[in-house]
Amino acid sequence: MGEKYEPKIAALICTYCTYTAADMAGSMRLQYPPNVRVVKLLCTGKVDVIYLLEIFKAGADAVMVSGCEIGDCHFLEGNLRAKERVAHAKTLLDEAGLGGGRLEMFHIGASDAPKWAQAVLTMTRRALELGPNPLGRSRPRPAAAQIVEEHRA
Ligand code: FES
Repeated sequence: MGEKYEPKIAALICTYCTYTAADMAGSMRLQYPPNVRVVKLLCTGKVDVIYLLEIFKAGADAVMVSGCEIGDCHFLEGNLRAKERVAHAKTLLDEAGLGGGRLEMFHIGASDAPKWAQAVLTMTRRALELGPNPLGRSRPRPAAAQIVEEHRA
């Protein structure tokens, strides 16, 4: 188990599904760790490897990407492309010694608020186990949302 700290988690989530689930989780007052910063995307197909690495470079301790269930993406295969990119970025994080476990892809439907709460819990646990992102220690941490915003076309 890594040192105790307050992990910073960025969540890049699809507006058609996971965002609704996250919103509903709030309305249902489901308990889950509050240290997650949400970035709403039109589709997770917008997520690229460089975005993910930039967010870690900015000091996020964990990043979660969550899109529509397989077969439900409004842009057909955006969530499948995101899944592949997340898998690739996980490999790069492992090679860099940061730990691929800091990054994960989820598929959470609009009505599945409990699954969202569980996913945040999972990533918070992982971030606690892996310890703080070493890249985040020596520099100020600009908001992950701001970084993603800067990379929007
Ligand atoms: Fe939700 Fe593509 S529209 S992941």
